[in-house]
Amino acid sequence: DRGNYRHFMQKEIYEQPVVVAQTLRSYLQRLEGRVTLPIPESDLSDVRRVTVVACGTSFYAGMVARYWFEQFARVPVDIDVASEFRYRQPVMEPGGLALFISQSGETADTLAALRHARAEGQRIAVVCNVPTSSMAREADILLPTHAGPEIGVASTKAFTCQLAVLAALAANLARAKGKLSEAAEREIVRHLSEAPAAINGALAYDEAIEAMAGTVASARDVLYLGRGTDYPLALEGALKLKEISYIHAEGYAAGEMKHGPIALIDDAVPVIVIAPSGPLFEKTVSNMQEVRARGGRVILISDYDGVAAAGEGCIATITMPKVHPLIAPIVYAVPVQLLAYHVAVAKGTDVDQPRNLAKSVTVE
Ligand code: F6R
Repeated sequence: DRGNYRHFMQKEIYEQPVVVAQTLRSYLQRLEGRVTLPIPESDLSDVRRVTVVACGTSFYAGMVARYWFEQFARVPVDIDVASEFRYRQPVMEPGGLALFISQSGETADTLAALRHARAEGQRIAVVCNVPTSSMAREADILLPTHAGPEIGVASTKAFTCQLAVLAALAANLARAKGKLSEAAEREIVRHLSEAPAAINGALAYDEAIEAMAGTVASARDVLYLGRGTDYPLALEGALKLKEISYIHAEGYAAGEMKHGPIALIDDAVPVIVIAPSGPLFEKTVSNMQEVRARGGRVILISDYDGVAAAGEGCIATITMPKVHPLIAPIVYAVPVQLLAYHVAVAKGTDVDQPRNLAKSVTVE
């Protein structure tokens, strides 16, 4: 039931404060400031390496998580899309943890990769939104997202819930490996607990995003740029836009622009820059200025400080609440989803059932 919403996708975008809170509740003990996994045996102290495998939006959630696993737990991470993973004969050392991320738990490539990793002696962790799915059943460690059924073909609330679970897993892994002090764990719990309210703050910008959708809707090509955990978000923004509005879009690491894609820049290509203020801000903004110097029309997504520092000369800015870098990818997913949504509505495409796509891809 869509309720008062025009599309399931819109409803699911709006459910995020509630479902992210619901998901976090089963991983965080807020009062104790502890992160716990909802499984009886969760000792991860012997994990030496994590191999992450997924498809599409779930893969981008994995890309964000790689930063966290490396930063907090100091564990080496290998990551690939499921359809390539098996064919490159990946090296998986005994005792490694293989992590599969899937909304449906039925994606054929991801499931085949899971079985391959099991045959290679890996411990299997699954982040999944459907507890009765094949992947959930075959997991050694099942880490559920509590997003509720996702009907829109374009994944939204499952993605932010995946990020919430992956942040909790990173903290748990870090603690198990002796890399996380009690105080640092308490801080992580505090920051994650702030995510639902910050998502609400991001949703408050909906009308402003709707107002700028026309600019993007008339473009033939759109670029998304980000650095650090905002790089996977740039990829996710581009995927969301192409799948529901059929506009060609690409996401790039901001610093990679000058190695080729900047040749595409002219005043017909909107460039969406995702840059919360913080340690990576200056570098991303200088990449943004390179785009502007070539006549590129920039839409900057940042917080108040970032927009104040670098918003001038952009064709539009989107102001997010100021948040800790840990939860920035969860919060900044929202404007990226809303922009794709409003552009698709402006173009009159079938938002919930885009052409050529199925909700669950059960062929390899
Ligand atoms: C994009 C999208 C797809 C899925 C991908 C994996 O909006 O929905 O890219 O993310 O097909 O699906 P799951 O997560 O079910 O394995």
